[in-house]
Amino acid sequence: MPQHVAIVMDGNGRWARQRRRPRSFGHRAGQKTVRSTIESCLRRGIGALTLFAFSSENWQRPQAEVGALMQLFLKALDREVDELHGHGVRIRFIGELAAFALPLRERMHKAMERTRDNGKLALNIAVNYGGRWDIAQAARQAAQAVGRGELAAAAIDERSLARFFCLADLAPVDLFIRTGGERRVSNFLLWQLAYSELVFSDVLWPDYDDACFVRALEEFSGRERRYGKTSAQVSKA
Ligand code: IPE
Ligand code: IPE
Ligand code: MG
Repeated sequence: MPQHVAIVMDGNGRWARQRRRPRSFGHRAGQKTVRSTIESCLRRGIGALTLFAFSSENWQRPQAEVGALMQLFLKALDREVDELHGHGVRIRFIGELAAFALPLRERMHKAMERTRDNGKLALNIAVNYGGRWDIAQAARQAAQAVGRGELAAAAIDERSLARFFCLADLAPVDLFIRTGGERRVSNFLLWQLAYSELVFSDVLWPDYDDACFVRALEEFSGRERRYGKTSAQVSKA
């Protein structure tokens, strides 16, 4: 069983289009899958789930779609936080939150503050997130630490840099899932995916149910994770 699953929730727009409905209809339908995926993780004791909800590139979509997504985020926060808190979920938003309007930002901070001591599931929602942004902000933090004299520039290595990335306190991402048929990372976690197992599904996100998730878990458990070693070395361990 993976300890940390990260998902690119893709295919909402095409799902709506197949039904001749506006794209926002697909985003709304996708929220149900978010709930069921969280429940799937809680049931199976998966400790961390990171969901890509809005990329730093998604601002380029038509204004109406961006606006509809923001409204959905707002409503979801008002609706879901109580229940998630009751289930022991720790909610965290990763990404450049300063770009969001104040009411949304306040709700995000409140949800994070309120659930910060929960330990059952770390739920990370990537909004205005980009993997390159994450690398840049980690580099910035490292430079600031150097400026304060807390870190020697010559001491910057993979380990000392790692702690500045989003999600550094969690288990590494074991399983990366992308729904909706595309085979790309789309500037989601870059540093954090270094040794993740990648699983792609053609199912559109609103249709991605527990059975689909179980198939991804099965595919994951059938993989041999070698981390550079040989198969013989790994199977001996
Ligand atoms: C993913 O679904 C949700 C977001 C990016 C917010 P899309 O909206 O990208 O759906 P498709 O890819 O157009 O079907
Ligand atoms: C990636 O999906 C972002 C999210 C799921 C939030 P996109 O649909 O935006 O990715 P591209 O544009 O197809 O690469
Ligand atoms: Mg898409």
